[in-house]
Amino acid sequence: MTTGSAGLALPVTDDALASRLNERLAVVEEALARHVRSRAGFVTQTASHLMEAGGKRFRPLLVLLAAETGDRAGSDEVVTAACVVELTHLASLYHDDVMDEADLRRGAVSAHSIWGNHVAILTGDFLFSKSSELTAELGPDAVRIQAKTFTRLVEGQILETVAPQEGEDPLEHYLDVVAGKTGSLIATSARYGARFGGASPEVEEALTAYGEIVGSAFQLSDDILDIASDSVESGKTPGTDLREGVPTLPVLMARASTDPADARLHELLDGDLDDDELHAEALDLLRKHPSLDEARAYVIGQAQEAKRHLAAVPEGPVRDALEAFADIVATRSA
Ligand code: IPE
Ligand code: IPE
Ligand code: MG
Ligand code: MG
Repeated sequence: MTTGSAGLALPVTDDALASRLNERLAVVEEALARHVRSRAGFVTQTASHLMEAGGKRFRPLLVLLAAETGDRAGSDEVVTAACVVELTHLASLYHDDVMDEADLRRGAVSAHSIWGNHVAILTGDFLFSKSSELTAELGPDAVRIQAKTFTRLVEGQILETVAPQEGEDPLEHYLDVVAGKTGSLIATSARYGARFGGASPEVEEALTAYGEIVGSAFQLSDDILDIASDSVESGKTPGTDLREGVPTLPVLMARASTDPADARLHELLDGDLDDDELHAEALDLLRKHPSLDEARAYVIGQAQEAKRHLAAVPEGPVRDALEAFADIVATRSA
């Protein structure tokens, strides 16, 4: 990925903006390391495990970038908000890896694989509590927004485990799940950034709408990568969604195909993909299937849609970077 400045997971061509974002991200990083500490050494160890393992810090970056649309981008509240969203995200990863029985996360062995489900779930709870404590510093409105966001995230995670309702379109169900589990927190990242950076209410609403679409697109890209990438790039085990029977965009699109050549793939998708050989065969067929490109094209369309909301932001380096952020989400390879 080309970066305007080493370390940024986003191409920012304006040098001044790139170095400001880098400096602010370093402040966030230092604060995050403090927030995962507990009075108990063991809890510090489990809670800092995934923080130290890596991660792209996309959500804090979006907070910082959205804050640049206002006149208080350098405020302490912006850093606090960036920590709130990353800690919430981090908490959800501990829970998600238990749900998905994932072995790898951020290139490291997942927490439940090391310490078991109980510790992994409670570490997620600990991190969510830390995030809530921090949100209280931002005032009651921020707490309400955070609570609503977490409600949506958890609803999305739960709805993913159940089939669409009678008469509900599977694609609609999936998009609803995605908006809840991922769109919600990325929308809030943009909202917090705009709000605590001092942007106008009009810009805050526009950036929230942008974040919601970018957030869903981010998850759709992740689902495509689950099929298309290897674990060196993603730091996760490929085909996890497939193994767990979690429906994703390319799979739903492949399922909708009426091409007789897809009969074997349909049969595999309808069966138990916990078997290593069948799983490998299904993954291989999906990697060659046109649904992968169809899914990619859909995500690129969503990025275009998100960018339309940026009309509320004045033209310039910040808007350019927000546009690049949407583009990178749609085309990312890690
Ligand atoms: C992973 O999020 C979970 C999803 C919502 C797709 P990220 O891809 O942002 O994970 P990290 O923070 O970089 O590890
Ligand atoms: C992640 O969902 C969503 C949340 C953690 C809320 P996934 O299960 O699709 O993400 P990865 O692929 O494990 O990162
Ligand atoms: Mg997962
Ligand atoms: Mg999951």
